[in-house]
Amino acid sequence: MYLQRRNRILRVSPAIRAMVAETSLTPNDFIVPLFICEGENVKDEIASMPNYFRYSLDNTVKEVKELWSMGIKCVLLFVKSKDELKDNKGTEAVNPDGLMQRSIKAIKNAVPEMLVMTDVALDPYSSYGHDGIVENGQIVNDATVEVLAQMSVSHAQAGADFVAPSDMMDGRIGAIRQALEENHFTNTGIMAYSAKYASCFYGPFRDALDSAPGFGDKKTYQMDYSNRIEAVKEAQMDVEEGADIVMVKPGLPYLDIVREVKNSVDVPVSVYNISGEYAMIKAAAKTGWIDENKAILETLTAFKRAGADLIATYFAREAVRML
Ligand code: PBG
Repeated sequence: MYLQRRNRILRVSPAIRAMVAETSLTPNDFIVPLFICEGENVKDEIASMPNYFRYSLDNTVKEVKELWSMGIKCVLLFVKSKDELKDNKGTEAVNPDGLMQRSIKAIKNAVPEMLVMTDVALDPYSSYGHDGIVENGQIVNDATVEVLAQMSVSHAQAGADFVAPSDMMDGRIGAIRQALEENHFTNTGIMAYSAKYASCFYGPFRDALDSAPGFGDKKTYQMDYSNRIEAVKEAQMDVEEGADIVMVKPGLPYLDIVREVKNSVDVPVSVYNISGEYAMIKAAAKTGWIDENKAILETLTAFKRAGADLIATYFAREAVRML
């Protein structure tokens, strides 16, 4: 055979493959989600997330120092609120001495250069386990947005670099931006969970924070997984309202959405490689059905290839170790 073009030439050796690789991973790509609980010297493994832990604040600070020394530049904070502090108004969410606010301060104090992003939604503080305020069995939009804006200002006051609203209420990005402006937080960013789908893959996360919805599901605010165009609408509206970064979530079953959003906005796009995706790889690796390290790198590279600029992932540590 005489062939004009032999595509395998560019695959002959590791050197040429590395040189023509279109996508690569670096520690700058990763956002590390951290679960923080009350107490001292606590390190609780999350049952459905093997080798991932809930830490008390003292241990969280140690963890953040270590992450920084590994070259990781960004953490995303979630807190597990005590049951007795939960209500239907988000009171604890805006408490200046709440666990979240204390955590932001402690982390920024210990590692000032680490970018601190904070989850903004009511579910960890809600007696109903919903992301918003509940009235007559409905999750009400506008009253929730008011609390989310106050919550964002409270995180900014504590020193957060970015707030990350994950609630999917309408108009919250604009309201948060306005509240930050009014309070002179002109350097605080917003990473909007713009296209967040109602997904079964959030299960392990809800174990981690004990935040499963007490009734119903989240389908009146999170998106229907049948939809693609709607994700573009959500992302574009969030950018118009002032989002600095838009996110697609979950990750692996939604790579088409990552690409679609990437092609339609002019801000960085992040993707959340969520708890259920983590659990699937861990479970398959445990039985020996897949090679864990290879699965991690292939998955994370796929996010970059799909168009993600940033990846929130529970695998960041492992990935950086391998890079
Ligand atoms: C809640 C929130 C969820 C996640 C991040 N923020 C769960 C939910 O919407 O029920 C999921 C993250 C993961 O599964 O890893 N606002």
